[in-house]
Amino acid sequence: MSFDLSVIPNKNIVLAVTGGIAAYKSAILVRRLKDAGFNVRVVMTQGAQAFITPLTFQALSGNPVHTELLNPEAEAGMGHIELARWADLLLVAPASCDTLAKFATGLADDLLSTLYLATKSPVWVAPAMNQQMWAAKATQRNLNTLVEDGVHVIMPDAGSQACGDVGLGRMPEPEDLAYQVTQYFHRAQRAIAEKFGLLAGKHVVITAGPTREAIDPVRYISNHSTGKMGFALAAACYAAGAKVTLIAGPVSLDTPNGVRRLNVSSAVQMLDLSMQMLDEGCDIFIATAAVADYRVAEVAEHKIKKAGDELNVSLIKNPDIVATIAGQQKRPFMVGFAAETRNVEEYAAGKLVAKKLDMIACNDVSRADIGFASDENAMTVFFADAYQLEKRDLEKASKQEIAQQLVEAIHDALWHEIEPV
Ligand code: C5P
Repeated sequence: MSFDLSVIPNKNIVLAVTGGIAAYKSAILVRRLKDAGFNVRVVMTQGAQAFITPLTFQALSGNPVHTELLNPEAEAGMGHIELARWADLLLVAPASCDTLAKFATGLADDLLSTLYLATKSPVWVAPAMNQQMWAAKATQRNLNTLVEDGVHVIMPDAGSQACGDVGLGRMPEPEDLAYQVTQYFHRAQRAIAEKFGLLAGKHVVITAGPTREAIDPVRYISNHSTGKMGFALAAACYAAGAKVTLIAGPVSLDTPNGVRRLNVSSAVQMLDLSMQMLDEGCDIFIATAAVADYRVAEVAEHKIKKAGDELNVSLIKNPDIVATIAGQQKRPFMVGFAAETRNVEEYAAGKLVAKKLDMIACNDVSRADIGFASDENAMTVFFADAYQLEKRDLEKASKQEIAQQLVEAIHDALWHEIEPV
């Protein structure tokens, strides 16, 4: 079973590994959680370190591993209270009998048991042990206590065990655990969306309008984009509960209510600001801008004077903004647009893959009734394969209505239930 979605921006998982042979599976679990877009920090008990080294988890998680409670050096990095606050989920996998017993009785004599008491985040445990230890009355009693205390217990699988026994006690496969965690956050997000808006709490960055590429201090190269689609999207995202930053090229449109607008002129400026938004924390990036493909190689310092019958201006390629952002390691959910005059769907599907987008909305700009300067639009939306979603045809409608449907498409792609394959 596998799934491959990097669509959970900014969720933090503390993975606690305790002593048991299944600890080796937790190394793969870290990878799967990272693949799914989570930030992961690993806590190891002493028992866990007898099975696998902290260095392995440090390399896989990209973060220092936490092993001790009152080590001044470690506490100076990220202390146990800070770690407890950082977690959006505390996942204990594998969870040993000993850990379950500590949790059930409220002992706090090592880092993990202290974290358990100190965190407000949900706690999941994936017990893994010998089948007889699993069946032991004390273990079952402790598990009942934990369930009563609100801990989510991931049931062990049955099968052959490392010790030679056969029965219940195997830790589920890392892919399965990562899948369950991902779906949990998707469900939580859907509940938030139902209550507070489809994109509640997300930071959406939108590029809009044309770019202007200077030839000299008074002339430039540009295009006919009016920015209407991007501005309509900004308004729709804000209405859906998002924080919205609109990076606008030169257009004569009013800033939608509640939207932060940053004006730029050239493609290079648009890229610079877009990259800054990544540092600020961006969950969804929507590129509607009609970025000039080329800019003037050497912008003249002074106005170019009329002379001769020909004037040659040398152009160089502009950076591809959306592809650059999509190529970053910590990337938001990426939405692109494609305006084509022929083979519309084929070209759009190609761009989806080439620019590493999650979703692309394409339209046929050869039709006079939609597109560029028009107030109406009609689009087809494609999703990257991993989302397991069919393409969507958005019938001709006002750009406001199309924007609303695009917001719904983004929401559906981000948080729908995905079948493991
Ligand atoms: O390659 P093409 O210009 O057709 O791709 C369109 C998509 O790529 C749009 O989403 C547009 O905003 C984005 N784009 C970009 N930077 C460029 C060119 C296009 O972000 N230099």
